[in-house]
Amino acid sequence: VKRPSPWNAAAVLALVAAALAAVPVAAQDEAAAVIEYRQSIMQAFRTHMGGVRAATDGTVPMDHAGHHAVAFHEMALSLANAFPDGSTSADSRALPAIWQDRDGFMDRVSAIQGATADLVEATESGDAAAVGSALTQVQGTCRGCHTDFRGPGE
Ligand code: HEC
Repeated sequence: VKRPSPWNAAAVLALVAAALAAVPVAAQDEAAAVIEYRQSIMQAFRTHMGGVRAATDGTVPMDHAGHHAVAFHEMALSLANAFPDGSTSADSRALPAIWQDRDGFMDRVSAIQGATADLVEATESGDAAAVGSALTQVQGTCRGCHTDFRGPGE
């Protein structure tokens, strides 16, 4: 049986110290990853707004509205836990109000989830006017959240 030498103990201590020092960096990386992720959800929202609009405008057949609406609603469902505590950085426009007024923020999340569910229902009717007005309702929920919970940017 090999007995641990003092050199080994020192090396272990150095490794432990290095691991502890690395924790804040790891937390920052984690925040950066989740920020990038939720920004990509927002970009998807923009894509689906445009997709539904292309269908109601007649650029593409109306069945495209249904495909976008379903994906849109699914993305809205994933919004609820895309803002974990501490997920802020200079690259994020998320305002502190998201964490200070959690109930208010979650109301906005529910609003877009409800509006996109209504949008899915409207697309099932195949009526362009109904889809158009449901889309306007969805758009109102974007603004509703951005006004209170998103800071200025480009
Ligand atoms: C519940 C709140 C909420 C709703 C609803 C919401 N957003 Fe956002 N949005 C945010 C926040 C907060 C940010 C900033 C995120 C960050 O930078 O960390 C953001 C950022 C964005 C961005 C910039 C993304 C980037 O690449 O930096 C776009 C585009 C966007 N939203 C579009 C939309 C559209 C379109 C809708 C509606 C269909 C919508 N958002 C609905 C809160 C919301």
